[in-house]
Amino acid sequence: MKPTPTAQDWHAHYAAGRDFRPLSDTERTILRERLARPDGAEVPRAMDVACGTGQLARLLAGLGYLVDAVDFAEAALERAAATSTSGITYHCRDVTTGDIAAVPAHDSRTYEVITLRRVLAHLPDRARTVAELAGLLAPDGILCVITPHADRQPEKLRGISLDDAEIALLTDGWEHTDRIEAGNSTVLLLRGPTCVPRSPR
Ligand SMILES: C[S@@+](CC[C@H](N)C(=O)[O-])C[C@H]1O[C@@H](n2cnc3c(N)ncnc32)[C@H](O)[C@@H]1O
Repeated sequence: MKPTPTAQDWHAHYAAGRDFRPLSDTERTILRERLARPDGAEVPRAMDVACGTGQLARLLAGLGYLVDAVDFAEAALERAAATSTSGITYHCRDVTTGDIAAVPAHDSRTYEVITLRRVLAHLPDRARTVAELAGLLAPDGILCVITPHADRQPEKLRGISLDDAEIALLTDGWEHTDRIEAGNSTVLLLRGPTCVPRSPR
């Protein structure tokens, strides 16, 4: 099994001018339709976890969210911040070390939307990270996971993908789950975590 990449590995990737797969038109359409700004939320908040160079954070800001975007690769955040920061605050954090709950600085400390694109398969304890993020969701908030699907990837990319059994483990414990196939990726929209304490307000 390949070792989990370190923050330095990711940083080096971005510092060399490289990036990852851009959002496809299908993903953009799904995200715009399914994460449209909710009625009633005066200032809807979103968190993009493992934001890379910020493409999804910018899409969320374009939908009207104020966005906290988190990654631990400094070069990614530098490149993201050089593009557009309108409505977006970037944070350099490791999401596996338990301090993600310290990111929100606004009054409710919760988010209408939290997104994770192409990162969950990389995380050493994804169930724990998902549970921590679930605790940051507003009532009716949506956790949106986009992951390459193992059945639609070459075997050499298995390590960056999730299969149906791994997806089932993720969706277990949510009241509402929507699953949408988008090319070689799967989009999960999860609402109503059933076994996660709410974060203190
Ligand atoms: C494959 S890239 C995807 C980036 C972005 N979500 C996108 O779709 O373009 C994975 C990202 O996760 C970040 N990442 C991986 N492990 C992380 C961790 N423990 N804490 C914060 N960021 C992490 C990496 O730095 C990298 O930017």
